[in-house]
Amino acid sequence: MGFFRAAGRWAKGEKTFGTTENPPARVAWLCAAGAVFRPIIHKALPFNFYFYIGVKASSFEFLLPGIVRSFGANERNHMHTSHGIEKMRAAHHILAALDFTPAALERGYAGRTLRIDLSSKSIEIRPVSQQMKELWTGGKGFDLWLMFQEIDKDTKWDSPNNPICMSSGPLGGTTSFPGSGKTLVTSLSPSTHSVMDCNVGGYFGPYLKFAGFDALTIVGKATEETVVCIDAVAGKVTIETAPLESIDAHLVCEELTEMYAQSDWDRRNIAVVAAGKAAEHAYMGVLNFSFWDWRRRVTRLKQAGRGGIGTVFRNKNIKALVLRNRDYTPSWSVAPSKAASLIELPASSGCCGCPKSTKDDVQQVVAKWHHKPEYVIEMMQDIQEKHRHISREALDALSHATGVSRGHLYHIATFYKAFSLTPRGENVLQVCLGTACHVKGSVNILEAFERELHIRRGQTTKDQKWSLEPVACLGACSIAPVVKIGEEVLGNLQSKDVEKVIKDFSRNAR
Ligand code: FES
Repeated sequence: MGFFRAAGRWAKGEKTFGTTENPPARVAWLCAAGAVFRPIIHKALPFNFYFYIGVKASSFEFLLPGIVRSFGANERNHMHTSHGIEKMRAAHHILAALDFTPAALERGYAGRTLRIDLSSKSIEIRPVSQQMKELWTGGKGFDLWLMFQEIDKDTKWDSPNNPICMSSGPLGGTTSFPGSGKTLVTSLSPSTHSVMDCNVGGYFGPYLKFAGFDALTIVGKATEETVVCIDAVAGKVTIETAPLESIDAHLVCEELTEMYAQSDWDRRNIAVVAAGKAAEHAYMGVLNFSFWDWRRRVTRLKQAGRGGIGTVFRNKNIKALVLRNRDYTPSWSVAPSKAASLIELPASSGCCGCPKSTKDDVQQVVAKWHHKPEYVIEMMQDIQEKHRHISREALDALSHATGVSRGHLYHIATFYKAFSLTPRGENVLQVCLGTACHVKGSVNILEAFERELHIRRGQTTKDQKWSLEPVACLGACSIAPVVKIGEEVLGNLQSKDVEKVIKDFSRNAR
């Protein structure tokens, strides 16, 4: 608010941003001004030098970092062009390579692990024994087992033989069980000097399994900035120098997704693991796992946040780990269960009886997903987004178009809370009843919404404007109690705010 008050005074000619006698305050003004106007200026000018000069020439000494950062931003944009990516790719130099054939999974196991030694530049495939499966199952169990093969009593967090182990369990990559998309990561922690383990989302764990590896062990230290690439399409694992890519995780993940994807469609097949600059300077650096969010059309990151695993990663001089998945994702094409195929659903009008608009919409969605039955969940998300629910007709049409049984589609539609078989309102209002929110009184908020909207939880208002849903943790516990309306998350709410929230939101929606 201080910035806007000062802006008001400046507009009245009382004071300019640069004239305060207090240099730190001057820097703060300029940073705030830069933060507010930078995106606008960036659109209009090649860099925001002119803006700063226009504010106050005598503040030039404080502007320099801003100008440099502006150039940096433009350089970054430049590097994201295909020319920039090509330049990065051309600078790669392969230090070691190993050919492999992706293995088929059997009862959740690929039956082998991958070990990469950055010091000796060696890549090895090792078998998974029956005893290992029986004693350690997978995930954290495998990681710990593999860790104890590498360390000894003298191993410290920054010793070359401190391994980073990553694994997903035997159910990894199936969509039938919550949490099966996770990757489990272990190492010796720079914060506690003991064993740490984290679990993290993103695509890496499942893709590692699809590539035919139950776990990955990385030991040693690279002498220069390195990228490790597991390319399940080419059947090749490589250790490559990567001098030009950014070190900031959000940038390098974007750059490598761009570099390794063959097409827009192929971006969903790329998973990148990276740690940023901060991890080089703190003992609690996190490790970021990327996935391509095809709805928002951005590379998004999940964090393995415990114990400083990112610090160990950067200590090994690894810039990123890239996994390129085969477009065909075996565990996702879950065969319809026998039970589902036996369920006789009430006879419907059949696909030919669908309203034409529903049928057309479904066909468009199916075409978008290349008619591949393994993407039925994504297709259902698209249908749900368009129709605000998935009608019986739409499920029939989808079954007809993809060959997936109706029973299986109903199984998915009723398993995931994201899907609704009845029409939802224009605004879906989700009240979190997770532990943190519950403790802070979210039940009272839910009841206040029920009174305000004259509906019960799980219902939709008669005018189809609002649906009210209780949900589990929305992932914003620090601002509990939390309510989500559409894509907007509101925190620290109280029952007395409910009326205002509804009014404000209805007014803005008009
Ligand atoms: S418990 Fe409500 S956001 Fe986590």
